[in-house]
Amino acid sequence: MEYIVVKGGTKLYGEVNTSGAKNAALPILFAALLAEGEHHFHNVPLLRDITSTERLLHHLNCQTTREGTNLCIRTSPPKDYTAPYELVSQMRASILCLGPLLAKYGEARVSLPGGCAIGSRPINLHIEPLKLMGAEIAIEKGYVIAHLPAKRLSGAHILFENTTVGGTENIMMAASLAEGTTVLENAAREPEIVDLAAYLKKMGAHIEGEGSNVITIEGVESLKPAEHTIVPDRIEAGTLLIAGAITGGQVRVENCVPADIQALIDKLQESGFTITSGENWVEIAAGSAGHGVDIHTIPHPGFPTDLQAQFMALMTQCEGASVITESIFENRFMHVQELMRLGADISLNARVAVVRGHPGKLEGAEVMATDLRASASLVLAGLVANGDTKINRVYHLDRGYEKLEEKLAGLGAIIERRK
Ligand code: EPZ
Repeated sequence: MEYIVVKGGTKLYGEVNTSGAKNAALPILFAALLAEGEHHFHNVPLLRDITSTERLLHHLNCQTTREGTNLCIRTSPPKDYTAPYELVSQMRASILCLGPLLAKYGEARVSLPGGCAIGSRPINLHIEPLKLMGAEIAIEKGYVIAHLPAKRLSGAHILFENTTVGGTENIMMAASLAEGTTVLENAAREPEIVDLAAYLKKMGAHIEGEGSNVITIEGVESLKPAEHTIVPDRIEAGTLLIAGAITGGQVRVENCVPADIQALIDKLQESGFTITSGENWVEIAAGSAGHGVDIHTIPHPGFPTDLQAQFMALMTQCEGASVITESIFENRFMHVQELMRLGADISLNARVAVVRGHPGKLEGAEVMATDLRASASLVLAGLVANGDTKINRVYHLDRGYEKLEEKLAGLGAIIERRK
């Protein structure tokens, strides 16, 4: 099995590019199911969740062709409307084919994604709104079996009891082909939602309010394929910025949208780091150092749960204490035990971790990646740990980071993948 070895102690310097956003690309690729024909996408990152999506689309009778970061999807009516267990179990976001299949073909059979390393992750907020829109949905033998008795879904007023990114995306896609108006209240506001709305609008959808917590979708009878460039990955940009911060180097992250990581920039500045930014870049100044600050993960525009683990790695290197509260997922602290294997001083109580920072005190060791962002936090910790850190199970990292080792090595990190 592949693993990564990082030799700590090198300050990172230079410029690094941001790839396209995984979490924007996934729903957008599934949106292709809403219109038969050729969809053209650019800036699609090369990573495992994208190839898993392609495999599911192939199963649903689509063809895909890739050249670099350009991806063309040719959709035709599926022969069977099933997202099977073996594909969904590879990637939970497969549930995003439910709304499009149901809206377009009136049928969908999607394996239940099940829990994952960071929490139980139910899908009730995907299913209940579709029922309100007229779908009949049952859970049978581990599958969501959805059927539409009418010709089209009907627009509905939906109030999400929890803010859900995937739920908002699934219903926004379904509502685009529904009859009448759908209003989503307490909708997620993430930049990935805005990017999905941008693609749906290019396909001919009528959507207003994306980026706010009320989204209105006026359903249309049909949509057409279009062309789209995926937004930059704000979580990757944030991870690379933290890599600069944790090593005390000077890193300029290019091709990103600084406004999308404002919550991180604010916290880095509050901690004492010097950050400058322009329209599409953000830079951490050489030799700047921080002290412990508290973070509380909440939906966008708050501090993102997807940067919590990486920020915790940084806090182990900042003088003073930091209280980190995870309010999105109930079990997203699996990296704590692994950071402690490197010597981090962290105490954990349910959803709150207290980190006491001791700059320069981590010692390289063998650790195990438990999920995507946990893997990134271990790589970051490895960049400053004394000696070698060996990170096992890096397949988690490959789900969501495009060439992370290459990018870090380009900034001077001593890092390599071995078998
Ligand atoms: C998306 O997951 C992201 N995944 C996650 O990225 C991210 O951590 C998460 O949003 C929060 O920002 C993709 O975009 C593919 P949610 P999603 O529905 O949509 C509860 C990464 O590392 N909930 O917003 O699955 C849920 O349990 C990851 O790239 C329900 O109760 O997250 C959680 O507590 C992992 N019922 C909260 O809502 C539901 O039906 C937010 O989850 C759905 C969700």
